[in-house]
Amino acid sequence: MGGTQLKWWVLLLLSSFLATHLVTCTKNNPITKKTYIVYMDKLAKPEEFNDHFQWYSSLINSVASKTEKETDVGQENRIIYHYQTAFHGVAAQLNEEEVEKLQEQNGVMAVFPETIYHLHTTRSPMFLGLEREDTTSIIPDKLSDHDVVVGVLDTGVWPESPSFNDTGMTQIPAHWKGTCEIGRGFAKHHCNKKVIGARVFYRGYEAASGKINEQEEYKSPRDQDGHGTHTAATVAGAPVRGANLLGYAYGTARGMAPGARIAAYKVCWTGGCFSSDILSAVDQAVADGVNVLSISLGGGVSSYYRDSLSIAAFGAMEMGVFISCSAGNGGPDPISLTNVSPWVTTVGASTMDRDFPATVKLGTGKILTGASLYKGQRNLDINKQYPLVYHGSNSTSPTPSSMCLEGTLDRRSVAGKIVICDRGISPRVQKGQVVKDAGGIGMILSNTAANGDELVADCHLLPAVAVGETIGKTIKHYASSSRNASATLAFLGTKLRIKPSPVVAAFSSRGPNILSLEILKPDMVAPGVNILAAWTGDLGPSSLPTDHRRTKFNILSGTSMSCPHVSGIAALIKSRHPNWSPAAIKSALMTTAYIHDNTHNPLSDASTTTLSGPYDHGAGHINPLKALDPGLVYDIGGQDYFEFLCTQGLTSSELVVFSKFGKRTCRHTLASPGDLNYPAISAVFPESTNITTLTLHRTVTNVGPPVSSYHVAISMFKGAFVKVEPARLDFTSKRQKISFKVTFTTKSRQTTPEYGSIIWKDGMHKVRSPVVITWLPPL
Ligand SMILES: *[C@@H]1O[C@H](CO)[C@@H](O)[C@H](O)[C@H]1NC(C)=O
Ligand SMILES: *[C@@H]1O[C@H](CO)[C@@H](O)[C@H](O)[C@H]1NC(C)=O
Ligand SMILES: *[C@@H]1O[C@H](CO)[C@@H](O)[C@H](O)[C@H]1NC(C)=O
Ligand SMILES: *[C@@H]1O[C@H](CO)[C@@H](O)[C@H](O)[C@H]1NC(C)=O
Repeated sequence: MGGTQLKWWVLLLLSSFLATHLVTCTKNNPITKKTYIVYMDKLAKPEEFNDHFQWYSSLINSVASKTEKETDVGQENRIIYHYQTAFHGVAAQLNEEEVEKLQEQNGVMAVFPETIYHLHTTRSPMFLGLEREDTTSIIPDKLSDHDVVVGVLDTGVWPESPSFNDTGMTQIPAHWKGTCEIGRGFAKHHCNKKVIGARVFYRGYEAASGKINEQEEYKSPRDQDGHGTHTAATVAGAPVRGANLLGYAYGTARGMAPGARIAAYKVCWTGGCFSSDILSAVDQAVADGVNVLSISLGGGVSSYYRDSLSIAAFGAMEMGVFISCSAGNGGPDPISLTNVSPWVTTVGASTMDRDFPATVKLGTGKILTGASLYKGQRNLDINKQYPLVYHGSNSTSPTPSSMCLEGTLDRRSVAGKIVICDRGISPRVQKGQVVKDAGGIGMILSNTAANGDELVADCHLLPAVAVGETIGKTIKHYASSSRNASATLAFLGTKLRIKPSPVVAAFSSRGPNILSLEILKPDMVAPGVNILAAWTGDLGPSSLPTDHRRTKFNILSGTSMSCPHVSGIAALIKSRHPNWSPAAIKSALMTTAYIHDNTHNPLSDASTTTLSGPYDHGAGHINPLKALDPGLVYDIGGQDYFEFLCTQGLTSSELVVFSKFGKRTCRHTLASPGDLNYPAISAVFPESTNITTLTLHRTVTNVGPPVSSYHVAISMFKGAFVKVEPARLDFTSKRQKISFKVTFTTKSRQTTPEYGSIIWKDGMHKVRSPVVITWLPPL
């Protein structure tokens, strides 16, 4: 970290400033109506109303501005959604004046404006997928978790995909209350014993963006984007032999939990994913009976209580639903995480051991390696050399033409040549389209400092090779310094057993958790680079409108792809341990994660030459088989999370959305936020140098053999002594809980966080908690 330490703290302070001030700076025209989410206290309903909806309608009606009341616009039209399971309230169209009035009303807990969420795919990049050699093929078929249902909030499903074939599946579980909504391109028969539910949520979207054009967009669960099909198949797709993308990544594609059921909740449309729709989907999914929710989307992080998804997820967690969310693709910048609430599982992305190598042979004879998913008739002759051109210089930052943005390439200087394009601003495959349109015959796509040497293989429309920053510099130097630069490109197909892997992806969002340093985030990493999974029949693999190819599978990258891996593994754990809480499942995933790669070295980070740390990979890379049998778990219930929120300086009116309608109050059982029984430990020494000792508490539950004995192993830290008491835990029964405390004593305050671990071992299990110690800089 060395030279970046200053930057780290500046960013930390800046972001916390933004987080607290941004919300207040966005005042809108008081007359314009927008969608607001209104959280209601269900228990406050006055007796005169027969039901909650009647009461909510009457409240909205009572604050509606005069002119509105005088017209015959029914107030029901103001209400877009009625939420009644994961939390209670409505989404309604209101202007600012009305919102102010509404906030005064009895029973109204909070009113927040609609926000827009985004899919966490690195769009149009088609990375290469991999089977999960290390997981599913080893998991016995008996573990097929036929009664576990995973709700996928996304862009819908392409039901004809072979990944959703339900051959051999048993009857739909009796607890399932969901349904298959029909619409254009989607009929009842499109649901089966694999895809057991499909619903659409668009009222918030339409209220903000106008009616969906049904000619251009399926207003039904049918997925025309591909993202939702890809994520759903990653969670629970049936095994498909011979799956591939244009010959790349050939093999058997299967979801993490091939026996689980999928329920698709379509919440994203061409213009984005709106919070009122997402909330309605979470609420409905819980009522339908999902066990796991897979949410590969995110918005900004403002606070636990202002983030609609955070509040809805809290309600779902209380109903026993495990929620896996993508961490975001804002890496490698620190503090770029989304979905940081402790009750959701925040998943970062890493590489697999599969690659799609391609080479650039320069006129000097030098051969350099990159990656590509190009397949087509326009192949270059590997025995010839073609002129090479770059419209930038190695000494300046990328320019519009060096990035091959639309309209920046001159046909005269490009035609018949291989063009070097820098990454940035426009989608990678679109740069290829720009080069092709200008008459270029090939492209070398060069990473810049932002991506380092992490390779992105794409399904380009012309021969193209992606190269890392270092190799890119070499090629650019050659192209700019040689009068007669030339090159040719060759595509080598799929290569397995790449070393090292996994490596944390450069794009994977990084911690720390801006809202509470004491809660280490992300929670873990899972495969999210070059993932092969099912694809829509409506769009080519590059997602470009000019791409007329149709493929059953596609290769994508992003934390959008890593999140469903964890959702699927969570479904497997749930099927093995039906009574485990969402926190117990997360604990199992975290304490069994590994932090070494396949060369037996510590995990590395694609964006730097330094090692990856807990702010990059959380507890580490998921280890599915181990997670089925973790030995001990750190369990957390609704009241515990609430107690954590009580330490976060929230006012009682801010806390109320988590309080089970005021029934829950702060008991102040946690001395500090770091005392939440989280499977990761983050000790934060305050600014005051007087405080040199910190004690944190944890409780583990025995889920292994009834009689077992664990001893602790603690890593060494430069800045502190760490003591665990007791250092030995003797269990005599199943589900027995034993508490211990961890005392940190400062030796010397460090200017950067220190990383290590606490591991409980019984000879069979290793229950590992990552540990971070931070000394806040003295004021
Ligand atoms: C589903 O899979 C079965 C068994 O592999 C196969 O016989 C059947 O044709 C498939 N159905 C569809 C619709 O692809
Ligand atoms: C940039 O190119 C010049 C020659 O054109 C070369 O001397 C220099 O080393 C290059 N710089 C980098 C950072 O590659
Ligand atoms: C320029 O490069 C081409 C292709 O490598 C080669 O055939 C030609 O002789 C070169 N011309 C000069 C002046 O170096
Ligand atoms: C720290 O200790 C010094 C000296 O004992 C004392 O003057 C100061 O008030 C203390 N600061 C805090 C924040 O406790």
